[in-house]
Amino acid sequence: MQLTAAACDLLTKKTDCLVLVLGNQQDDPPLQSPKHIDTTIEDLIKKLKESGDIKETIGSSIVINNPDGLQAKRLLIFSSGEKSLNEQSFIKLATSVGSKLIGLPIKDALISLEDIAICGREKTWEAQQFSRILGEQNYSSGSLKTSIKKIPSLKKVTLALSSAVDLQKIKQACILGSSIAKGVNLSRYLGDLPGNICTPSYLATEAEKLAAQHPQVACKILNEKEMTTLGMGSLLSVTAGTQQPAKMIILQYFGANKKDSPVALVGKGVTFDSGGISLKSGAGMDEMKYDMCGAASVLGIFSMLIDMNLRLNVVGIIPAVENMPGGSAIKPGDIVTSMSGQTIEILNTDAEGRLILCDALTYANRYKPKIMIDIATLTGACVMTLGGHASALLSNNDALAESLEIAGNSSGDRVWRLPLWGEYDKQLKSNFADMANIGGRTAGTITAACFLARFIKNGAWAHLDIAGTAWKSGADKGSTGRPVPLLAEFLIKEASND
Ligand code: BES
Ligand code: MN
Ligand code: ZN
Repeated sequence: MQLTAAACDLLTKKTDCLVLVLGNQQDDPPLQSPKHIDTTIEDLIKKLKESGDIKETIGSSIVINNPDGLQAKRLLIFSSGEKSLNEQSFIKLATSVGSKLIGLPIKDALISLEDIAICGREKTWEAQQFSRILGEQNYSSGSLKTSIKKIPSLKKVTLALSSAVDLQKIKQACILGSSIAKGVNLSRYLGDLPGNICTPSYLATEAEKLAAQHPQVACKILNEKEMTTLGMGSLLSVTAGTQQPAKMIILQYFGANKKDSPVALVGKGVTFDSGGISLKSGAGMDEMKYDMCGAASVLGIFSMLIDMNLRLNVVGIIPAVENMPGGSAIKPGDIVTSMSGQTIEILNTDAEGRLILCDALTYANRYKPKIMIDIATLTGACVMTLGGHASALLSNNDALAESLEIAGNSSGDRVWRLPLWGEYDKQLKSNFADMANIGGRTAGTITAACFLARFIKNGAWAHLDIAGTAWKSGADKGSTGRPVPLLAEFLIKEASND
């Protein structure tokens, strides 16, 4: 689907469907008629309101075929529901506009942006979010179904403005939004693939494919032998019970001066988490194919970087393993030595994410990153704490945490910060090694982050626990592509600050 912007007259422009959003101009009462239509349409809207066909709830809509006074074949009228929209309600509105459009038998649509106002946001922001949301809705998860797939007929969406002022910037925002959506959809696709297809080797091949698309992207894959030489005893202990070879995937994107220190993104890539010898219970275990969504988000971000040529350097590091029980699997009570030299008593083989991430974080130091962010479906406790609404954020740096919070609010892909206090870190005490890999029943998301913090040197670091946000369960089961929108927004800001 192509998404663009144009300055045009809503009355005379030919389109399969014109979309109008009823007024949410900040000082107006709700359901005001848009400002750029003529009296015929205004009368029509008035009647629809009087008859109760248009309601004040956000996203409620009505389609009118062959409307008088317009060149459009259909008029789709939406209620914005509120006097002034905020970011979250705009995202809700754009999502309902998108799903309505995709359900119609139309090839193109024209959405009037002129009458949508969001406190403190420019038209470029609206255009970027609209393009991203519509692009994401173009995704279908049934790639392995043999039945014929329904491809939406909608091919082109134009955001309409009344004047050409800022048009170039708005068009650019559409391109940006679409390329973020492409990254989100790659991440979702990889997340939705089953564990028997999406193995560590599969992820490595995907990374190589991305690198082949751009001269400024390099990819390196470390095999188990190389990881043994590097002393990654913690990561290798997780892969001991499986037949699938572990891979350490390193992607580098050079968008700035080669010497500029990069942002490092480290993504948990457990392609299936059975729990290992501390085996998980059977119910819902299939969802542990999603335990590589941190890795998938790093690959999604690289897809966006390749499309957008952002002016910064990024290194993506993906420790990819499968966590299985087996004759040679690690056992509770085993002690391993991490690449950092610190020893770890493994009290639960199901707390494997931190065991692979710690060696990946140590390895990431080689790239001397100015910022390090790890992304992981790390704890069930995070799902209990924040549900599917926000990812947990833990950081040793207030400025970095704040930038991530801002990027979260702007993209709608929000985070909520939790503390990293010393009291929690104490829960990791082991009688036999430098630390245990679990911190007891309480504060599981925080103790997991405290474990990772022990492998961070002095630099700015943030940990995103995406266990609740990376996929949905139930009837809508599927990967969400989060936190690609959050990280994209963060990196765009970083690139413009340099
Ligand atoms: N991949 C899981 C975390 C997870 C669980 C994500 C449920 C989403 C839904 C992780 O490897 C894990 O098993 N964590 C354990 C840690 C515990 C043993 C300290 C958990 O959260 O139960
Ligand atoms: Mn686990
Ligand atoms: Zn896991």
